[in-house]
Amino acid sequence: MAEEKKMIKVTIDNISVEVEAGTSILNAARQIGGEVAPPAMCYYSKLKGSGGKCRTCLVEVAAGSSADPRPMPKLVASCRTNVMDGMIVKNITSDKVIDARKGVVEFLLINHPLDCPICDQAGECHLQDLGYEHGAAGTRYEFPRRIFEKEDIGPYIQLHMTRCILCYRCTYVADQLTDHRVHGILDRGDHSEISTYISKAIDNDFSGNMIDVCPVGALTDRTFRFKNRVWFLKPVDAHRDCPKCSGKVTMWNRGDEVYRVTARKDQWGEVKDWICNTCRFDKKETSDWIIEGPTKVSRHSVISQGHYVGITIPEEVMPKVMDGRNPKMLMDIHNVSGVNRPGIHLSTLPGPAHSDDFESATKLLD
Ligand code: SF4
Ligand code: FES
Repeated sequence: MAEEKKMIKVTIDNISVEVEAGTSILNAARQIGGEVAPPAMCYYSKLKGSGGKCRTCLVEVAAGSSADPRPMPKLVASCRTNVMDGMIVKNITSDKVIDARKGVVEFLLINHPLDCPICDQAGECHLQDLGYEHGAAGTRYEFPRRIFEKEDIGPYIQLHMTRCILCYRCTYVADQLTDHRVHGILDRGDHSEISTYISKAIDNDFSGNMIDVCPVGALTDRTFRFKNRVWFLKPVDAHRDCPKCSGKVTMWNRGDEVYRVTARKDQWGEVKDWICNTCRFDKKETSDWIIEGPTKVSRHSVISQGHYVGITIPEEVMPKVMDGRNPKMLMDIHNVSGVNRPGIHLSTLPGPAHSDDFESATKLLD
């Protein structure tokens, strides 16, 4: 007979939930969902050993358990603390937690540049979201920031160490998914940095997943860098028969052009199924894929702007109001911009797109 799982009761932000013994506070809060779930910058449920590095998931334990209801003296990392029967936890209902999280964000931003306007991760960056939700308007840091040169750490991945928050997720991916880990965190303390011992060494078959797990823009897809903003692209779920991985991906298109291929992510921003480098980097034609339909994007995400799934378009009343005439458009962007020319495939340009790439198209407009 299968052993019955022991269930225990925990209350988080005044909401009670029953979870299996051995569940972390963070995962119990995720079962409740919404804002009650603390943010996590280093914990990743699919990576063994992750968590405990960033402290964004701090919570207050107001009562340790029904057997010992004393509060815990300090805030605890919810990704690394397991629930006890009768535990009472405060996350968004605790002023101490909100204040501490603000401090953690300030700390994470000590070296991280505020280059969101030119960063490829903008729109899907967990630190950007955290900064908006908990960030302070200024910083008290007065010392020079750490700055690193960008480095191609393989044919497909660029490392921008200045943006790294040392969450260790990419090293766990390399350890647990790829054949041989060839990168890691070198040195200690303020000198710690992600690097490879042999330059340009990362080409393992599942190494592209490091890009997906990186919560910031420190690891970016070289085939997609500076090609487009994510909120201009249309994410669709697609699959192919792949001998190496599940072949289930999100394809990011603009028109018929496939700009990038990523793994599908769940509501916590975590990869659902790891994908291989062939699916991610080599299959950039729509015809390589069987399209399932638009990806469901949270309506709180900037990526959801313009991608409405399952809605009813309200009746257009302006022509009626104007006696059957359509409102006059003052300017049609397609007539005045060199970008969006059907003959220019931005995703196939070898590097970032420059005005030169559109010169011939711009001349056509003159
Ligand atoms: S490169 Fe990204 S995933 Fe790797 S440790 Fe830095 S922030 Fe984390
Ligand atoms: S998510 Fe818990 S310490 Fe980073």
